[in-house]
Amino acid sequence: MCGIVGYVGRRPGQPIILSGLRRLEYRGYDSAGLAMVEPDRLAVVRAVGNLDSLFAAADGLDSSSCTGLGHTRWATHGRPSEENAHPHQDCGGRISIVVNGIVENYKSLREELVGRGHVFTSETDAEVVVHLIEEHMGDGLAAAVRETVARLDGHYAFCATSVDEPGLIVGTRHEAPLVVGVGDGEMFLASAIPAFLCHTKRMVVLEDDDVAVVRADGVTVTDVAGGPVDRPAQEVPWDDDAAEKGGYETFMLKEIYEQPTAIADTLAGRLDDDGGVDLSDVGLSDDLLRRLRRIYIVACGTSYHAGLVASYALERLARVPVQIEVASEFRYRDPVLDAETLVIAITQSGETLDTLVAMRLSRAAGAPVLALTNIMGSQATRDADAVLFTRAGLEIGVAATKTHTAQVAALLLFTLHLAEVRGAAPTDELIRVGRALRNVPQDVQAYLDNHRGLDEIAERYHDRRFFLYLGRHTGFGVCLEGALKLKEISYIPTEAYAAGEMKHGPIALLDEGSPVVVVATDGPVYPKLVSNIEEVRARKADVIAVASEDNTAIDELATAVLHVPRCDPWLAPIVAVVPLQLLAYRIARLTGCDVDQPRNLAKTVTVE
Ligand code: AGP
Repeated sequence: MCGIVGYVGRRPGQPIILSGLRRLEYRGYDSAGLAMVEPDRLAVVRAVGNLDSLFAAADGLDSSSCTGLGHTRWATHGRPSEENAHPHQDCGGRISIVVNGIVENYKSLREELVGRGHVFTSETDAEVVVHLIEEHMGDGLAAAVRETVARLDGHYAFCATSVDEPGLIVGTRHEAPLVVGVGDGEMFLASAIPAFLCHTKRMVVLEDDDVAVVRADGVTVTDVAGGPVDRPAQEVPWDDDAAEKGGYETFMLKEIYEQPTAIADTLAGRLDDDGGVDLSDVGLSDDLLRRLRRIYIVACGTSYHAGLVASYALERLARVPVQIEVASEFRYRDPVLDAETLVIAITQSGETLDTLVAMRLSRAAGAPVLALTNIMGSQATRDADAVLFTRAGLEIGVAATKTHTAQVAALLLFTLHLAEVRGAAPTDELIRVGRALRNVPQDVQAYLDNHRGLDEIAERYHDRRFFLYLGRHTGFGVCLEGALKLKEISYIPTEAYAAGEMKHGPIALLDEGSPVVVVATDGPVYPKLVSNIEEVRARKADVIAVASEDNTAIDELATAVLHVPRCDPWLAPIVAVVPLQLLAYRIARLTGCDVDQPRNLAKTVTVE
């Protein structure tokens, strides 16, 4: 997704903005640009490709200005090109804007503006914003932005500067992120916190349709009508090295190894030593939980896999029918929703538009919505009736890892809470699962400390051009996640199937030596998985099994085994996914892929 960085303060802004853009690279982009507000002119550079091209182009700028805007663009309207890169300027070249998101009514606005003589220089939807501001500049930039917002449809965040008002940036947002960093005699704006985290930990989170008027000495926030709005600054709980690699070769590897902490932090204060759960801060009353007749889980990608994994325990322990749906499909099935249907929306970023749309549709139908997210101040926290935060810390790698396992842990917490409130399961069973959940960080740590055999397996199979993943029950969700990890960071085609389905078609894919990953940790369905492994081996395919640590019998059956600490079957998916994350990582590194920024992918998908 696009990245916005703005600076106004007491230092030359160019290097600060460029380094801020560098810290937003993980969001995914295909072009970038910078505009500095010089005395009576704008100094603008734009470049296609990665930031190195922009940095080279900016060398010639050598601006000493203390006010400017930067942007990384992920093309939605108009191909990646210098003309389409932001910042965009008005006809007079005196106003500059950077936009994230989509202006849905841009075509009619463009026709209207062209009809009034405006000259467009790009194919983008974003450019209509600067020409609308141009038309309303009579009362100054802030008023012009407020007038412009009133004309826009869509979901966007943008910042604007003007040569006629030096030392000023005006920013606003509508269903896309924009935060203000509060420094000492300097201020920052960005799409995401990492852009300015090295300068300040204090930030102001803007709400939809807030208009932030930012000068070096501070920020004033109004609504679209110009009325004052109170947005106190808050301290983010991360320091700068959270946005750095901490000695690891990539963000993804760092985040894989942060999982014990991410899970432990997510459980902290919510699960006591006896396995008792306290989710009183979530915002769902016991009365509502008792009245529930159904639960829908909606999510995308890795978050969907977390929901699928947890859905088995949720239905089994809380005895509430659970339906899970990919968020982008949910809205088109015209779901039956009511006040007794809880919709759980899982989104680590809190900004995935498919999931946000599913949330709004649910609330409009009267269903209570619980958001499970990792980012405070995200749109999902605003669009939900209740919020359950994972506390995984900043996840920079595009491929989700620690947020996934933290999501599963949080969902199991919610499961135990719901089951207890509804009296749906024996107390001793809930206590047993709760105690096992408390131990999961140690189980994951134990595997990370000793992932025996993994590197050899990665070395042996890294050049294969297809992997099949098989699992049953909660292991099926683990397979989907393992298969997604491998395909999204190594570009190797993969398929994940419920193991019982293999004989209904996928078995035709097997050839001698085909690598088949089977998630076979101990649990009720293990005997069936042994049969599936034998079926695969009968076709001379190779089985890479994920199995419990003291299960030595499987060593005779499988070609290779990744042993993980034994734990309660409900918690096994959290531990079993870790070897699959590492296997995907090692294979991707062996094939020379950029695991932190895989091709075509963005960390947050804010378009439908
Ligand atoms: C997972 O590795 C991918 N980055 C992607 O599938 C991601 O999980 C999906 O886009 C959902 O993102 P969210 O959790 O922020 O909503």
